[in-house]
Amino acid sequence: MTADANTFDSIGLASIGLSLPPLALPVEELAKLRGQDPKKYTLGLGCQEMSLCPADFGAVEMAVEAARRALGRWDGELDRIGMIVVGTESAIDMSRPLSAWVADELGLRGAVRSYEVKHACYGGTVALRQALEWKLSGAAGDKAALVIATDVALYALSDPGEPTQGAGAVAMIVDQPHIAAIDPISHPWSEPAFDFWRPVGESFPRVDGKFSLDCYKTAAENCFKAFVGDDNAERKLSELAAICFHVPFPKMVKKAFLHVGESFGWDFELANEIFSQKIDPNMGWNRQCGNAYTASLWMSVAEALAGLEGGQQIVAFSYGSGFGAELLTLTAGPEAAAGTWAADIESDLDSRTHIDAAGYEELRNVRLAASA
Ligand code: CAA
Repeated sequence: MTADANTFDSIGLASIGLSLPPLALPVEELAKLRGQDPKKYTLGLGCQEMSLCPADFGAVEMAVEAARRALGRWDGELDRIGMIVVGTESAIDMSRPLSAWVADELGLRGAVRSYEVKHACYGGTVALRQALEWKLSGAAGDKAALVIATDVALYALSDPGEPTQGAGAVAMIVDQPHIAAIDPISHPWSEPAFDFWRPVGESFPRVDGKFSLDCYKTAAENCFKAFVGDDNAERKLSELAAICFHVPFPKMVKKAFLHVGESFGWDFELANEIFSQKIDPNMGWNRQCGNAYTASLWMSVAEALAGLEGGQQIVAFSYGSGFGAELLTLTAGPEAAAGTWAADIESDLDSRTHIDAAGYEELRNVRLAASA
């Protein structure tokens, strides 16, 4: 491909790979430990299970596995990767980028730009946008980008965020749009805030929970308004095959979409109907994984794209605390219908081990001891 071929229709997702860690905890088990009604977690927050990592396993291992899976079903060779960029908030070093650990495992070296992007849960989306814009600029030439969103989301014991925990990785090769083209026009929104942050040296985030919900809703309202512009909001959103959100916990997404609907002057029934048809079905993998920070939105997008006919459009709303957000439009390509990457999630879900409340306590103690 030449730089001249880098038009909108020629750039997007050429391959996707996903990876979940080997352990899972049903939220009802956590409710037993915390003396909560399990319905608070299942109905109140919309959570089902959280993916968990053993002590010797984390963001790097998931990123490497997701990348291998994406590379394995891509029609290009490793020496065509000219950029590896990892979006994460699970950095293991303040200087060395997480991409270096992943590139080392993949045997990726030489004329390759390698770096890490941080902006809370929005980091993976920024990485993807940079890869897309690198391709669109012509600077990439014939090279492709390997973009990975990977995170381990753990809160302090008994933190209100604990039932929303999770972990996972999504790798995407940005090249020809076999799976989906990405529109170069997107709709960002940011406002500096302290809604969720993790000071240097601290193991767990500090969260202003209720404020974080307001920040997320503000961002969603502004991004969707920019997307709709002067069009009719109901028509524009109804035409989409799917609407995907960053999923900190599924109920957050519903609250945010009802808020977006309210800002368009819709009644509850209309917003709820669009939510049920276009949004809720894309959160099946998230419900079984929990919040995987940077990977959560892209897991939902991967689920939504699997099975779409070429030409069908979806939007993806990315949110990262701090806060920054962006709404992207994707158009399904010829390989979306086959949805081959769904096999990654199916096999990881099938093979993972479910632990109980006691197993969870033990795991957290081991992880705490390992990080001390
Ligand atoms: N049966 C059914 N529902 C119940 C119930 C029961 N027995 N008990 C409580 N509930 C409901 C409550 O009514 C409430 O529902 P509504 O919000 O619809 O009223 C829901 O369960 C949750 O209850 P609380 O509001 O009391 O929950 P909480 O305060 O303990 O925790 C939270 C909620 C603050 C969001 C917490 O989960 C948290 O801090 N999460 C982390 C922060 C977060 O995810 N923020 C999202 C935006 S920021 C972001 O997106 C970045 C990111 O990934 C972290």
